[in-house]
Amino acid sequence: MTALDDDTTTDARLPFHMRGNYAPVMEEIEAFDLPVTGSLPTDLNGRYFRNGANPMHGPTMHWFAGDGMLHGIRLRDGKAEWYRNRWVRTKALAGADRMDALTGTMDLTVGLANTHVVRHAGTIFALEEGSLPNVISPELDTLGPYDFGGKLATPFTAHPHTCAETGEMHFFGYELISAPFVTYHVADAAGNLIHSQPIEVAGPTMVHDFALSRNYAIFLDMPVVFDLDLAIQGGMPFQWRESYGARIGLLHRDRARQGEQPRWFDVDLCYVFHIMNAWESADGNTVYLDGGRHASMWKGGADKFEPCYMHRWAFDLTTGKVTEEQLDDVSHAFPRIDDRRTGLLNRYGWAVGPRHGADPNSQTAPTNVMKYDLQTGQRTTHDFGPTMMSGEPVFVPASDAAGEDEGYLVTYLYDTSSNSSSFVVLDAADMNAAPIATVPLPQRIPHGFHGSWFADE
Ligand SMILES: [Fe+2]
Repeated sequence: MTALDDDTTTDARLPFHMRGNYAPVMEEIEAFDLPVTGSLPTDLNGRYFRNGANPMHGPTMHWFAGDGMLHGIRLRDGKAEWYRNRWVRTKALAGADRMDALTGTMDLTVGLANTHVVRHAGTIFALEEGSLPNVISPELDTLGPYDFGGKLATPFTAHPHTCAETGEMHFFGYELISAPFVTYHVADAAGNLIHSQPIEVAGPTMVHDFALSRNYAIFLDMPVVFDLDLAIQGGMPFQWRESYGARIGLLHRDRARQGEQPRWFDVDLCYVFHIMNAWESADGNTVYLDGGRHASMWKGGADKFEPCYMHRWAFDLTTGKVTEEQLDDVSHAFPRIDDRRTGLLNRYGWAVGPRHGADPNSQTAPTNVMKYDLQTGQRTTHDFGPTMMSGEPVFVPASDAAGEDEGYLVTYLYDTSSNSSSFVVLDAADMNAAPIATVPLPQRIPHGFHGSWFADE
């Protein structure tokens, strides 16, 4: 293949998300018994699925507005049994509108399903924050929208978090036209929706992620706000609005069941797309939140993504004060942890970062995987080389008993020099080690969003 295959272009008249490896692939393929460089660990038995925007019908108004496409690889007994890519067969892909033009009501079953793919209580969901989840089969077939037996009456975030101790999946949905703008939900470990509660915020804020600690659900209420005029114009309907302010709310998970609202802490103006984790001090008096802080978001247009830096917010529940600390001076994207530490003190985290010397504002510069050791404050990096771009690193423990970084990082890589993609397995404990295994893939995988490892159950 050449560096500019037929399906990629550098035509600057197109938005960035339709150029180069952001451009969609138009074929659905599958391949079996893939060649492997190195050796796939025999304890990696399961599937890695990753979601992303892959517009079927030409340029979209924003990177986030493309139809969801899943790229999956199935590993078993040291073999890469198959790779497959499939559009999520949403109602939107079939041409349905989210909003009824006559009544103005939103159809929650219509969405793009393009942002994340997670599993809870044995069910795989493709997620996009404006609609209900779509259920996906282990073979990447779409089984349809899911509303928890008629109980879920709001959109479903792309970033639910599953409590490491209770197995509950905590999530929320946000809406744009009328209050409640944010609703908090809990599904039990068996997948039953057991709690739904409006969260009082001042307006239609865009809430991409939230966090969970042992006792609190933590809400971000930040100044990227829905604008009806922008929506009518057909553009990205959110804009940076400083007057909205920025605050973070801690909702006690048990007292929420009695209807208690979050305790809000005003923070310096910022936007947070992704949190890394939250946890509590041993005495329970301080709650810590680590996440990627953008000084602003979409200030000069919705294609302008300001870089984000890892920050820690410490909420003192006795004094009601919050302090903010920058943890790293290198920007990052897509922070992940060992999900078995969700809500608990974590020592390690991983994220995508710019290759040394690369422009952190560039959408086409080489990227690496970084590892944070939050105990020592050290950052180490796995350097993929000058032509490579990494996807979100997903941690897979080597076994149920494995320690926090004892396992693997899996992701898709894109090589700008060959316009090709591969699946890679790294040693999560040692960023300096060469990849354990690389699986060259039969087509390029466009830059996308989030993914998960689904171990065989
Ligand atoms: Fe996200």
